[in-house]
Amino acid sequence: MKRFKEKTVVVTGGNKGIGLAIARRFGNEGARLAIASVESNVVEAARSLEDEGIAARGVVCDVTDKEAVRALYDEAEDAFGGVDISVQNAGIITIAKVENLTEQEWDSTMDVNTKGVFLCCQEAIARMRASGKGGRLINTASGQARDGFIYTPHYAASKFGVMGLTQSLAKEVALEGITVNAICPGIIQTDMWDYNDKVWGEMLGDYGPGELMASWVENNVPMKRPGSGADVAGLVTFLASADATYITGQTINVDGGLIMS
Ligand SMILES: NC(=O)c1ccc[n+]([C@@H]2O[C@H](COP(=O)([O-])OP(=O)(O)OC[C@H]3O[C@@H](n4cnc5c(N)ncnc54)[C@H](O)[C@@H]3O)[C@@H](O)[C@H]2O)c1
Repeated sequence: MKRFKEKTVVVTGGNKGIGLAIARRFGNEGARLAIASVESNVVEAARSLEDEGIAARGVVCDVTDKEAVRALYDEAEDAFGGVDISVQNAGIITIAKVENLTEQEWDSTMDVNTKGVFLCCQEAIARMRASGKGGRLINTASGQARDGFIYTPHYAASKFGVMGLTQSLAKEVALEGITVNAICPGIIQTDMWDYNDKVWGEMLGDYGPGELMASWVENNVPMKRPGSGADVAGLVTFLASADATYITGQTINVDGGLIMS
């Protein structure tokens, strides 16, 4: 089914992991894509989507830089027409005991995970308002927007922040045909989880590669499997679809039952 034919979608952090899976799913359902990343291989990632028959542009963009974010949305509009759907997915994590957590880690995590989401929403809303056609914003939070895990106070704070800005913006644009929702992935197998597994694993006990993730999944995820980017993409595309017209300001878990609140 081509639910997103003629729609233009921006996905930040779209060169790999969850973001690339989201982009691919939109593309397979007919959307045109501008994928953005601070990593230059986003251009190759877009090319590989094009090889799959998906209209895609790769844009190098640091989501903490307001001018770069403006240029990203300009490029999406110039290439494909107005922006219909924007997925704020770029994110970073570090893990440290509180006495070792630096101010720089605090600031950069808040900058990418919270301010970056805000700057992209701000730019997308301006364009959706100007078009008068409404739109959809989906912001990536985390299970850590529900329940802060150990050694990541900065990450948890940044993701709780995403939930708050999602609710506030949803109220502001509700009469303009724009919905704003957030998602909370649980344990999803990506480069980010490889880092988590190694660093949390070393800090929490004698875990070898992959063992911490396996243990958390076994003990805490009722479905007893980690998630995939495709699992997350299913929720994001639903929230962007015509079936989700009356859903806004929500934060929805996609985590195999890890967190049930
Ligand atoms: N993997 C998980 O288990 C998990 C769980 C909950 C939430 N999340 C969230 O999902 C999102 C995607 O994570 P992932 O697991 O795919 O991680 P990943 O490390 O594979 O990808 C992160 C993406 O963000 C991009 N990025 C980082 N800093 C950026 C910046 N300043 N400007 C633009 N792009 C930037 C990277 O280039 C990359 O594309 C993140 O927001 C993350 O916090 C992941």
